[in-house]
Amino acid sequence: MTSQSESTVYIETYGCQMNVSDSELMLGKLEASGYRQVDAPDVADVILVNTCAIREHAEQRVIGRLGEIKSHMKRGAILGVTGCMAQRLGPAILERASHVSLVIGPDGYRSLPLLVDNARRGARTSSTNFDLEEQYEDFTPRRFDRVKAWIPVQRGCDYRCTYCIVPTTRGSERSRKLDDVVREAESVVAEGMSEVVLLGQTVNSYNDGVNDFGDLLRAIGGVPGIMRLRFTSPHPNDFSDRVISAMAETDAVCEHVHLPMQSGSSQVLKRMLRRYTREKYFECAARLRAAIPGLSLTTDVIVGFPGETDEDFEETLSAVREIGFDDAYTFKFSLRDGTPATRFPASETVPDDVASDRLARLIESVRSNVRDRNLRLLGQRREVLIEKEARRGGLLQARTRDFKTVILPGERSMIGSYATVELTGTTGSTFTGAVVRERKPLPMAV
Ligand code: SAH
Ligand code: SF4
Ligand code: F3S
Repeated sequence: MTSQSESTVYIETYGCQMNVSDSELMLGKLEASGYRQVDAPDVADVILVNTCAIREHAEQRVIGRLGEIKSHMKRGAILGVTGCMAQRLGPAILERASHVSLVIGPDGYRSLPLLVDNARRGARTSSTNFDLEEQYEDFTPRRFDRVKAWIPVQRGCDYRCTYCIVPTTRGSERSRKLDDVVREAESVVAEGMSEVVLLGQTVNSYNDGVNDFGDLLRAIGGVPGIMRLRFTSPHPNDFSDRVISAMAETDAVCEHVHLPMQSGSSQVLKRMLRRYTREKYFECAARLRAAIPGLSLTTDVIVGFPGETDEDFEETLSAVREIGFDDAYTFKFSLRDGTPATRFPASETVPDDVASDRLARLIESVRSNVRDRNLRLLGQRREVLIEKEARRGGLLQARTRDFKTVILPGERSMIGSYATVELTGTTGSTFTGAVVRERKPLPMAV
């Protein structure tokens, strides 16, 4: 294209933080090739939809959205589908949707400018090869968030949880080199940010051949200017003593772990191939809590997995109660083509109304547990990082180190800075807070 300096790109992201991070890399790459980001599809020359395949519902949403976008595309604009659904369905997307001209899986973004150029000349391409060497080291991400930075440290997954499509869509696990991650953390500080979130599907199994996840936490925590260090999602089996010690001994590591449990029944966990039992999961939570005072724990739970009995589900409810999570993301099992779960006999399928009923009961139980826990925190003081404007007018949204959302009054100029707040009220899930002490923005902050 000759007029690329005039060209615009719009990107829409579904799925997990890894996908958000990939969108930041794609946008950075296209900006480096002369594209300018716009925030609506109808004014874009290039529209990218970065997709998720984790549950059927996620894919249905994207299919609906692709239809909607079709009617908003300006003349000559091209539409590309990237991410996990692109990887899973490949050329089938081109066959099904004639207005899509580009399909690129998570390892193919290096060719994005070239493939976009070709598409603008009329080509229709699907690029879904895995590249186990690809870490996008020379890309400069265009970050969407001004306060915290997502830093991918690992791509792919070597677990084979029987329900999960991710190993199919993202390939085998590989870790970035520790020095590269440190360099990225330094550049994040130079951009004025003080919180980083390290990303990987089983992020605590990070290993670059020399360093493990404990080494990585210590190295990133040692980068001057990094005040808060988080990571997501760890796997319970990969919390070695070394990793837990590094968490406990690195000041920047926040007192929050998102620890996906999936089920409270050892029987179901075995069939999910999670590689731990209920007891082992409890033990992991206890080791983390013993090492890190004030630790908050959040989790993911699936209900309606094939063969899940009423007793199994009761074990999930009791686990949620006994562990005392600070929050839980709850999902109804969704059967994905190509996953090992498709091989369970049809007779073990949990009927949809039973699964829906369990989901509703689980959500209710989580909600009341979380509410009870949060009520007990009222009156306490917490350090918060002010992240953005709240949806409600004139207020700000902030986060504690232990991952509680706090809404407080204040000026936009406070975004990116820290304050001490008193927790004055709670809706049950989020808090309202009163600023007790403001801290000056960091010297580097913009
Ligand atoms: N790598 C992360 C999970 C990524 S997927 C981990 O291992 O923890 C995020 C969550 O989606 C999972 O924790 C699981 O609870 C849920 N999930 C994954 N596949 C699913 C499926 N087929 N049906 C319903 N929920 C699913
Ligand atoms: Fe999926 Fe399991 Fe890998 Fe997580 S650990 S991405 S749930 S296969
Ligand atoms: Fe979805 Fe892919 Fe993430 S399937 S949850 S976008 S790794």
